Amino acid sequence: MHEGASLPLRIPVLVPDLPDAQELMPWLSRIDAARQYTNFGPLVQEFEGSLSSVWGNATEPVNVISANSGTAALELCVAALALPPCASVLMPSFTFPATATSVCRTGLIPLFTDVAPYTWQLTPEMARNAMRTHEFALVMPVATFGCPADMAGWDAFVVETGIPVLIDAAAAFGNQTVGLYAHVAFSFHATKPFGIGEGGALATRDWALARRVRNLSNFGFDASLVCAPGFNAKLSEYAAAVALAQWARQPTQQANRRALWSAYADALSITAGLTMQRGFGPDQLPAALVVNLALPAQDVAAALAQSGIQTRRWYCPPLHYHDVFAACARCGPEGDTRLPVTEHLAEHSLGLPWFAGMSQTQCAAVVATLQAVLDTGLLKNGKTAPAMLGA
Ligand SMILES: Cc1ncc(COP(=O)(O)O)c(C=O)c1O
Repeated sequence: MHEGASLPLRIPVLVPDLPDAQELMPWLSRIDAARQYTNFGPLVQEFEGSLSSVWGNATEPVNVISANSGTAALELCVAALALPPCASVLMPSFTFPATATSVCRTGLIPLFTDVAPYTWQLTPEMARNAMRTHEFALVMPVATFGCPADMAGWDAFVVETGIPVLIDAAAAFGNQTVGLYAHVAFSFHATKPFGIGEGGALATRDWALARRVRNLSNFGFDASLVCAPGFNAKLSEYAAAVALAQWARQPTQQANRRALWSAYADALSITAGLTMQRGFGPDQLPAALVVNLALPAQDVAAALAQSGIQTRRWYCPPLHYHDVFAACARCGPEGDTRLPVTEHLAEHSLGLPWFAGMSQTQCAAVVATLQAVLDTGLLKNGKTAPAMLGA
């Protein structure tokens, strides 16, 4: 091999963990027997029932509407809220584009804000500050990398301000609860903690909104009449079969991930030159393992790649750097357009390998290689600690 040439990648950043053909078979046989393939069939209903039992109970039930992606779940909810055309929607710039596209496609306009330095999320307090200088008709916080949004705080915000809240919890299945007032959208994309290939769900305790979301997911039909211009966002029975097979695997899958996580996280937390995202509960696992580095993420990623360790710079560039969103207004913590934490994360955050089935040897190799890369870089740059966040 030439000097400087990369080794073939040995440790991937992410490996989806979905049921195999054998695990799917009982559910596929049920489809064969029922011969119903879509239109809210029995498997979709069973899956929605399972989800609703996680987030609600008999006294405070939760409505769950499945959808064929997390993006569709977001867009259905935004459309069902029927906000005034061209109204602004407060959301972080540090997120996946679907948070903003679901707003633009429903005739609303993103208003980008910064995120908090430890959780990397838009908080209720930040939204209250933004109200001093900007008007907005909806807030869309993001449960960044699976870190749950402050549900009690967002419920209180809705009660206090009357402004609806839709949490983009695409990656936070298993961590994010559903509020009394705040609505929550989840993704079941193959790379998410509960992956089924493509899929999503909207969870809400607002029964009237749930009905509108359901109707919009089915072309806008309410009984036999179209009441609003909806689209087809229904989950098929085949996707629900994968979901139910995945449901059965969850306890084992979670136990394995938890067993691996504590040692990995402990080792990373004492690695000099990085800080970790905070805000997870004691039993909660991140969907993606993203760290904040004292050095430019680009350089660290290149050095890790040389050692066969794959990384990903999630949410980089942040949304206000994308041409399509460049004209959207920004509302920074100082009341101007600067988003300092977002800018910092854009340059310094890096996603490390973290997936079900990762071995302890792989975890140890990531930590040791990363530490060596950081030590060398810090020494060269005369730096001792992360420049800003979470030190
Ligand atoms: C924050 C966020 N929102 C929305 C989505 C879109 O979800 P889906 O891929 O299921 O449409 C993603 C996907 O990665 C995401 O990370």
